[in-house]
Amino acid sequence: MPKRQDIKIAPSILSADFADFGAEIRAIESQGADWVHVDVMDGHFVPNLTFGPPAVAAFRRHVTTVMDVHLMIAPVDPYIEAFAQAGADILTAHLEAGPHIHRTLQAIRAAGCKAGLALNPGTPAEAVAPLLDMVDLVCVMTVNPGFGGQSFLDLTDKVRTLRALIGDRPVHIEIDGGVTPDTAPLVAAAGADVLVAGSAVFKGGSVSDPDPYGTNIRAIRKAAQGAIG
Ligand code: DX5
Ligand code: ZN
Repeated sequence: MPKRQDIKIAPSILSADFADFGAEIRAIESQGADWVHVDVMDGHFVPNLTFGPPAVAAFRRHVTTVMDVHLMIAPVDPYIEAFAQAGADILTAHLEAGPHIHRTLQAIRAAGCKAGLALNPGTPAEAVAPLLDMVDLVCVMTVNPGFGGQSFLDLTDKVRTLRALIGDRPVHIEIDGGVTPDTAPLVAAAGADVLVAGSAVFKGGSVSDPDPYGTNIRAIRKAAQGAIG
């Protein structure tokens, strides 16, 4: 199990300058990002459209840390191989994306990626219990997926339940949506160790003035660490 105090910050490039992804990725990594979070949306599972495999492969050329690819698409199985080929280190699928999540998770690992399982806000923590030996990460959505910049939904009880269900397994708990220095302590104290943040990382900065990215990342990390000692 990852050490509780080993908080990772994963900026979501959904809040980056879409005309300059390479420079944005290099900027957040040089400012202390642990992972790079890539939000793939299909306009069907969620009401927004973002990136396909060729775009993700282009991002890969700039990522030197971990490329964490969050698939908000349904169906998901036909695209797993393509996103693995695009260079995802972690591929996360939604439990709600289809009737055969067990098969999906098998396919992700067979494609050579770490397997993530994301839960919409309305899906209970207990739903992952039969799948915990098949995953490397559980992503708890603390907004309804589809857009950056939404308000945090306080699901700390769900995170706590999930941490208890995971027990000693080496499974990350990732929080995605509305993470800020104010909300990070709540989920860190409940057992989360990976914090995705889009608007709270990118606000106030740019590729020509990236220092605010570092200030923002450090503020989230410090707030989270402060909650777990
Ligand atoms: C939402 C995405 C998130 C989003 C987070 O569907 O999965 O990764 O970019 O953005 P913020 O941190 O602004 O809520
Ligand atoms: Zn995401």
